[in-house]
Amino acid sequence: MDVYEAVTSRRAVRDFSAEPVSQEVLTRVLTAAAWAPSSSNMQPWRSYVVTGAPLVKLKELTAARLAAQDPWDPSQYEMYPPKLKSPYKERRFAFGEQRYGALGIPAEDVEGRRRAAAANWDCFGAPAALFCYIDRQMGPAQWSDVGMYLQTVMLLLRAENLHSCPQMAWSLFRESVADIVSPPEDLILFCGMSIGQENPTADSPRTGRAALAETTTFIDQ
Ligand SMILES: Cc1cc2nc3c(=O)[nH]c(=O)nc-3n(C[C@H](O)[C@H](O)[C@H](O)COP(=O)(O)O)c2cc1C
Repeated sequence: MDVYEAVTSRRAVRDFSAEPVSQEVLTRVLTAAAWAPSSSNMQPWRSYVVTGAPLVKLKELTAARLAAQDPWDPSQYEMYPPKLKSPYKERRFAFGEQRYGALGIPAEDVEGRRRAAAANWDCFGAPAALFCYIDRQMGPAQWSDVGMYLQTVMLLLRAENLHSCPQMAWSLFRESVADIVSPPEDLILFCGMSIGQENPTADSPRTGRAALAETTTFIDQ
């Protein structure tokens, strides 16, 4: 698979089969992903890969919390700016319409969207999950390093014929994740990532992108 194909075939998959992912493949992907760039080569990512019985346990913990209507854990970082401006606000709205529209859940049905979002904490059925932490000392430049690392992981997963879904949603149940992975105090959970094979019967629309001219300007004279 060439890089263009890896980039364009990567998408956030939200319906995985239960087929296990081997430790060997995950080790190969994460060993190669370590070559992601970072400012001053600080490599400010810290990953935990959870599979098998511990992942089943984590899914049980979050399912129990959802059933008990337990509140989300206090956030450690701002997921979105409080007052999104244009064009980000419209893009975010369009994404929600597409994602939940495909499931037949309109914007007014807040409870329905919440129920659909709960699949996040079942890893959308995936048999493997990566939880990526960053030291709370780090700033925006290092968070960006972590993003590059995560994209590198996701592209390498494509080379292994696997799919993924990065999930900030896991930060909302970060204490349950901590119960399983026992991270040191100074780490913040940025996101989880579900990993596996896409369910062959999955049918989800591809997200769109802004036209190149909206995000990129070429200056050549
Ligand atoms: C840092 C990050 C966090 C995300 N968190 C979630 C999440 O919690 N749940 C989810 O279903 N998708 C999540 N996504 C997936 C985005 O919604 C998705 O990447 C975006 O809509 C573009 O779609 P595509 O990846 O399928 O091309 C996240 C993506 C990123 C990069």
